[in-house]
Amino acid sequence: MTEQLLSLYQQFEKDFKIGAAINRRTMQSSEEVIKKHFNSLTAENEMKFESVHPYEDEYTFEISDKMVAFAEKHQKAMRGHTLVWHNQTSDWIFEQNGGLVEAETLLKRMKDHIDTVVGRYKGRIYSWDVVNEVIADEEDKFYRDSKWYQILGASFIEKAFEYAHLADPDATLLYNDYNESNPAKRDKIYQLVKQLKEKGVPVHGIGMQAHWNIYDPSLDNIRKAIEKYASLGVEVQITEMDVSMFAFNDKRTDLTEPTEKMKELQSERYQQFFEVFKEYKEHIGAVTFWGVADDYTWLHDFPVKGRKNWPFLFDTNQQPKEVLKKIIAK
Ligand code: XIL
Repeated sequence: MTEQLLSLYQQFEKDFKIGAAINRRTMQSSEEVIKKHFNSLTAENEMKFESVHPYEDEYTFEISDKMVAFAEKHQKAMRGHTLVWHNQTSDWIFEQNGGLVEAETLLKRMKDHIDTVVGRYKGRIYSWDVVNEVIADEEDKFYRDSKWYQILGASFIEKAFEYAHLADPDATLLYNDYNESNPAKRDKIYQLVKQLKEKGVPVHGIGMQAHWNIYDPSLDNIRKAIEKYASLGVEVQITEMDVSMFAFNDKRTDLTEPTEKMKELQSERYQQFFEVFKEYKEHIGAVTFWGVADDYTWLHDFPVKGRKNWPFLFDTNQQPKEVLKKIIAK
């Protein structure tokens, strides 16, 4: 008899949800793995502003509706990603009469967007990445210099949470960012959410994107980030985890397969990550991967276009890597 591998999400059912970002392709190509191993789904691109709201008077929900229906059919919880971001946001929202839109109009457009999108899936999406990536990476800068920020100052952040909360009072609302374990950026994210909480803004959690690699960030920095965020009394979610085989500045393009050394390091790191997540399970609501299996990942194009990467727990043939068995056995 062949050995039956237990399910990843069932292993952690008492601790936190296990999620995956999906798209139209992987909903099909990874359907069996999704069904068996994940109990939470996020749309990789299909709920972003430019996907659902290409023109002021036109919302396009065909694909996002299909994803929510897919999640419900398979009894998977659904996360929402994302409402207010500087990327993948239609230009029209920032424009008016050939120039930049007035603050008041931008705020009204943002509210309309949030009302419509969050309202449409009210009660069916348990958690939203309301505001994404507004903290600057530069150490001497606090906020990212986006059009949102240029036109509205920092006020759009609290407004976005207020509107989202009005549209679905039961959804867990997150602030989501990357480089979230870097101490300088971590402290700014902490400050931002602390200030919001002090003002009574309905922010319920912090999303750590966790675009990590086999060398960085250190376990110590990951732990400190979780602890610091949790100290605000908010939920922590790992929202976009992938573990790249390359250090961020490594631009090599010669590999068609990962080396043995890379595989070993990745295996070791994944085991350590899951040990840390278990340790902080009181604070962690979900651990979501930014994909399912190594045949498809956004890292095939980022940061080096066309370079393969192998960041997940399932290989290019949808088969579990050895490390998955170790994570499940623990
Ligand atoms: C990425 C998607 O995976 C790609 O398909 C798309 O081309 C660009 O965006 N932070 C986020 C995600 O919050 O929405 C991004 O997703 C990855 C970085």
